[in-house]
Amino acid sequence: MFPKSTIAVALYASLAVAAPAPQVPGYTDGDWPVSNSLEPLTDLATSFGPDSQVSAQPTRAPTGTESGAAPPRVSSDVTGATSHGPYSGTATTTGAVSNTPAGQTIPILPPNPTATYYNADGTLLEQQPIPYTPAGGLGTNGTTPRYMVESDFDFESIALGLYQEWIELDLFNNGLAVFSEEDFIAAGLTAEDRSLIQFMAQQESGHATLLTNMLGEAAPVQCTYNYPFTTVREFVDFNQRLTRYGESGVWGFINHLDSREVGQLLAQSIATEARQQMIFRQMSGLHPMPVWFETGIPQSWAWSLLAPYISSCPANCTRLAWQNFPALTIVNNPNINRFSANDTKDYEQVGQRASDPSNSTIPQDESCVNLNSTGYSCGPAIARNRSEPLSFPGKAIHLTWDAPGEPVGPNNSYTTSIGGVAGAPQYVGWASQLNFTYTPLEMTGEREGWTYQPAGEVYEGDPAVNGTMFVVLTDEELYVTPFNLSMVNPHVIALGIYQAG
Ligand SMILES: *[C@@H]1O[C@H](CO)[C@@H](O)[C@H](O)[C@H]1NC(C)=O
Ligand SMILES: *[C@@H]1O[C@H](CO)[C@@H](O)[C@H](O)[C@H]1NC(C)=O
Ligand SMILES: *[C@@H]1O[C@H](CO)[C@@H](O)[C@H](O)[C@H]1NC(C)=O
Ligand SMILES: *[C@@H]1O[C@H](CO)[C@@H](O)[C@H](O)[C@H]1NC(C)=O
Ligand SMILES: *[C@@H]1O[C@H](CO)[C@@H](O)[C@H](O)[C@H]1NC(C)=O
Ligand SMILES: *[C@@H]1O[C@H](CO)[C@@H](O)[C@H](O)[C@H]1NC(C)=O
Ligand SMILES: *[C@@H]1O[C@H](CO)[C@@H](O)[C@H](O)[C@H]1NC(C)=O
Ligand SMILES: *[C@@H]1O[C@H](CO)[C@@H](O)[C@H](O)[C@H]1NC(C)=O
Ligand SMILES: *[C@@H]1O[C@H](CO)[C@@H](O)[C@H](O)[C@H]1NC(C)=O
Ligand SMILES: *[C@@H]1O[C@H](CO)[C@@H](O)[C@H](O)[C@H]1NC(C)=O
Repeated sequence: MFPKSTIAVALYASLAVAAPAPQVPGYTDGDWPVSNSLEPLTDLATSFGPDSQVSAQPTRAPTGTESGAAPPRVSSDVTGATSHGPYSGTATTTGAVSNTPAGQTIPILPPNPTATYYNADGTLLEQQPIPYTPAGGLGTNGTTPRYMVESDFDFESIALGLYQEWIELDLFNNGLAVFSEEDFIAAGLTAEDRSLIQFMAQQESGHATLLTNMLGEAAPVQCTYNYPFTTVREFVDFNQRLTRYGESGVWGFINHLDSREVGQLLAQSIATEARQQMIFRQMSGLHPMPVWFETGIPQSWAWSLLAPYISSCPANCTRLAWQNFPALTIVNNPNINRFSANDTKDYEQVGQRASDPSNSTIPQDESCVNLNSTGYSCGPAIARNRSEPLSFPGKAIHLTWDAPGEPVGPNNSYTTSIGGVAGAPQYVGWASQLNFTYTPLEMTGEREGWTYQPAGEVYEGDPAVNGTMFVVLTDEELYVTPFNLSMVNPHVIALGIYQAG
């Protein structure tokens, strides 16, 4: 017996006339026979069963104390934190975890003497250990993997990652809890989209469990948070910013970890986080990925951006060693809710914290949220074109920044500071894709100035500055690349997020 659908397709293929394919300049093989998808929709299913009974045998996942049962998670789907808002008490301890640093900067060295491998003809240069296995690699010689942090660097990096997973678990659930179904529908998000957000929250409880296990008993725990948003648009916008530094923070350190095993599992969780970031961009009506490469940033940048949203942590929650840089405010950061980003007014985000979302309660006739017009709509979608891009090279960028010495983070128990050798601010550093580019800062007042958006490309045709990206103020133009970006930290004066696209 033939499946019914095969017959139907064969029948249609012989009847329907193919629509002309678009002509792509320079593409010479466009007459390849393709199946015609433009069938008239006259035979859609209206009842959905009974289905075919396929062969199967009864099975179920073991649970509880049964052999092979999955390990428990460190948190239920919904978090323990039940209150939100600012912290008003006095911290019992302050400052980043520290002992006695050996210096203020790491000296710049030549390449490692062993970094010389070059293979000009593509043959094997060393004897293979076993068939089909070229020589080399780390963790490939048969040693048993140990999925635990192997240094203070590893511990502090994964502990930072865990702080990030905990806020995401709370945040995604919080949005579902505080906004009604009608609020979501008004922002263009359906019941199925809400289920997706809920699923993302559950992923976070798995990530939190994984990171906790790789740290051991001193792993940081769930804290209490203080969020900036008051609308669904601002919620998803905040999420796309927060997951951007969550993801980029990991790309920045993952290849520096001592433990390759931890790096392996972390990569497999950050791949999921990267998908979350893209989905929150789509829910915000932004281009899903207007870049060719995602940026990596140093841990202290991720911590600086995250900490202002943590109001308090339990007394024994393990503290971090990373730096909190002062907030850099991009006064005219493009508002993602406007069809004309050029019309963005000064300070059009909902607060003064560096990654606060764009203000979504602008006048209706200036908003792109509910438009139904290609190039102008910014409602949720798989992809959006913006006829008027959010930003463009050469755009004047107005900046203000906070002084160091402000209390920040859980229990206001950390203090913002500038890089250890940083002098007066003179440059703006743009961290986007594979590039770290400087533009000159023109001071216009105390902790106030302007620069312009740079125009460089990563590779031909890929403007470096785009997407949700990072900007810092520095005192000099230190040349850094993706694997040594953190060398710039002793020169950083303030840090912000720029919504370039
Ligand atoms: C196996 O490789 C690791 C590095 O991945 C190295 O530390 C260890 O000494 C090697 N062991 C043997 C037996 O070669
Ligand atoms: C904090 O205290 C709780 C409750 O006593 C305990 O379960 C947890 O392991 C402690 N955490 C740390 C990092 O000491
Ligand atoms: C932070 O605040 C919480 C809630 O008030 C309190 O339980 C905790 O002990 C405080 N932690 C520190 C380090 O002050
Ligand atoms: C958002 O913009 C509207 C209109 O300009 C203004 O009334 C409102 O105060 C702004 N909201 C915030 C949180 O700044
Ligand atoms: C948007 O416009 C298209 C084409 O004009 C129309 O088919 C569609 O129904 C409109 N959608 C909404 C939500 O108004
Ligand atoms: C979307 O933008 C691209 C260039 O970024 C352009 O080539 C294309 O025509 C646009 N599509 C629509 C439907 O406007
Ligand atoms: C936004 O401003 C730039 C610079 O003045 C200008 O070139 C561009 O055309 C403006 N965009 C629109 C849509 O008017
Ligand atoms: C960012 O990418 C989008 C999509 O390709 C493009 O339309 C926009 O002009 C880009 N923005 C900048 C600043 O290059
Ligand atoms: C951007 O990064 C690429 C890859 O490292 C490099 O080749 C290029 O020169 C950089 N472009 C700019 C403008 O810095
Ligand atoms: C960073 O790495 C680049 C090579 O990719 C090197 O030229 C530069 O000097 C390094 N910067 C610092 C501060 O070490």
